[in-house]
Amino acid sequence: MAQYFPGRVHEQNAKWTAVDNYAQSHLHPSSRPYHAPLENVLKNSLASGLPDISSYPVLAKFFALQCTALGVKHALEIGTLGGYTAIWLAKLNPGLKVTTIDVDPKHVAVARENARNAGIEEGRIEFLQGPALDVLPGVREEIAQGKREKFGFVWIDADKVNNWKYFDLIVSGGLALPRTVIYVDNIARRGNLPKRPEELKLGVDEDNEEDLEDNREGLRGAREVVENVGKDDRVEGVVLQTVGEKSYDGFLFAVVKG
Ligand code: DHB
Ligand code: MG
Repeated sequence: MAQYFPGRVHEQNAKWTAVDNYAQSHLHPSSRPYHAPLENVLKNSLASGLPDISSYPVLAKFFALQCTALGVKHALEIGTLGGYTAIWLAKLNPGLKVTTIDVDPKHVAVARENARNAGIEEGRIEFLQGPALDVLPGVREEIAQGKREKFGFVWIDADKVNNWKYFDLIVSGGLALPRTVIYVDNIARRGNLPKRPEELKLGVDEDNEEDLEDNREGLRGAREVVENVGKDDRVEGVVLQTVGEKSYDGFLFAVVKG
């Protein structure tokens, strides 16, 4: 698996990778019918020139199983990329419809192709292209008019600066059912969450100004959503740090009060 994440990583450790590889070889073996189609999604996304910043197998399967356990019928994803997570959700949950938003038409085209190749029936994944802050109000309107169902699962994994705006729009716009789980990715990367920007040791490419700026923005977006969720009586949240074959990072997990 690790070969699909050769690019930007945020701390790796041979033990973390070994544990993932061992557990994956037993729990996600090639004998499972969905194994090869999902591998192909990652391969084709990389071959199509998409950045290797997708969810990794353990995380995507965890979300798919969350949807199974919670009996989710409608899932919302912000940040489609190559559709890897959306395809996992759809593959493991035949009764689930996924709505996924991405600003980049190329991502949407590759994700559509990946979903088709993975054998996902037309319509099970709804691809919406555009900036999520422009697309979500239309989704809200359709829900208000009874033309679409509210979501029971939300995965936010797009541009990090808008984390809170997406989160707030979903909760205040009535897009989520009571007890909906909302995940926000890339919250704990390199353990920098509690540090001030001037203390940052960004690690991967500190000389690259673009990389530095990108990470500063990401950090700002991570803090804003964590701090605001902590002040928000509509939700209850926790940050879970993760290690694995891809990197050290973590996500915010929040539940809409019912
Ligand atoms: C990176 C990882 C992500 O999960 C993401 O959503 C964006 C960027 C990264 O590794 O740079
Ligand atoms: Mg991410």
